[in-house]
Amino acid sequence: MNDIYILGIESSCDETAASVVKNGSEMMSNIVASQIETHKRFGGVVPEIASRQHVEQITTVIEEAMNQANITFSQLSGIAVTQGPGLVGALLIGVEAAKSLAFAHSLPLIPVHHIAGHIYANRLVDEMKFPLLALVVSGGHTELIYMKEHGHFEVIGETRDDAAGEAYDKVARVLNLPYPGGPHIDRLAHEGQATIDLPRAWLEEGSYDFSFSGLKSAVINTVHNAEQRGETIKPEDLAASFQASVVEVLVEKTSRAAKEYNVKQVILAGGVAANKGLREGLKEKVSELKGIDLIIPPLKLCTDNAAMIAACGTIFYENGIRANLGLNANPGLDLTSFNRE
Ligand code: KG4
Ligand code: ZN
Repeated sequence: MNDIYILGIESSCDETAASVVKNGSEMMSNIVASQIETHKRFGGVVPEIASRQHVEQITTVIEEAMNQANITFSQLSGIAVTQGPGLVGALLIGVEAAKSLAFAHSLPLIPVHHIAGHIYANRLVDEMKFPLLALVVSGGHTELIYMKEHGHFEVIGETRDDAAGEAYDKVARVLNLPYPGGPHIDRLAHEGQATIDLPRAWLEEGSYDFSFSGLKSAVINTVHNAEQRGETIKPEDLAASFQASVVEVLVEKTSRAAKEYNVKQVILAGGVAANKGLREGLKEKVSELKGIDLIIPPLKLCTDNAAMIAACGTIFYENGIRANLGLNANPGLDLTSFNRE
């Protein structure tokens, strides 16, 4: 069988990224230009600025990815690009770049769902074993996804309000920590004790859905009440208590679903997968479940990158998923629309 070389392009939020992946699992290059420094002073991603920076970066980032992989366009099997979800103006830059290159070099164009990409970061680490359960936790998503085979996604639980990363970033703001707040809370949490009583949203019996807005409000109220009483709360303890609540719910629901769905493997995906507390908690819990493997990608593959888009694009390429040059960015793209029935 011929080797498959896919160029992946990602521009859904504040990272401009390109990567070449061989046979869906071998990373030949992985270039990420982050805009975090630019958005920091605004306390979050400013969509117009993100789009403009993507325009400035994308050509160089793609060139670097091709150079580092030491490959020419004629050797590629196809070009995979994040079609959605994400910021529409940001997505469009990647989509237009991918379309231009696919047209210029007569290459197949493969649309990829950003979350499917996050899941496929795991294939760059280890073999995926089915059926599997993916816990996807990012700035915009918190989902439990069941996969019976490659390229088939079933959402069995999702957040009803804030995503886990969003809750982290909002709590970080209350604690006056810089954007993105997740890593800062994670660091503080390890310096404090979970002494403050905060809620855990288990929802109805048997539900795999999540809710983090109540927890976020509880943290904000705790800070305000303390301020009114002239008391000080140690930010480390608040961070530790908040993290304990998030991690307990995520880990417990993942473990229950893994047992109920009888999966062979649990995989972790998305920016919040970089969280040390979550990584440790999940490792400990899954090790108690006999016969279930766990993959946790290295930090670089947890946050937004294009290697995950190329890895997922390879499976989609093999499944015959193609887009024509009319491809448009879709901020509300549905993950299950990629399933082959
Ligand atoms: O997947 P990602 O890079 O972008 C989206 O697709 O949303 O995730 C970004 C999110 C941010 O909310 C950021 O605060 C969070 O991931 N994050 C973390 C950590 N590192 C990044 N949250 C908690 N702990 C971390 N160590
Ligand atoms: Zn992401």
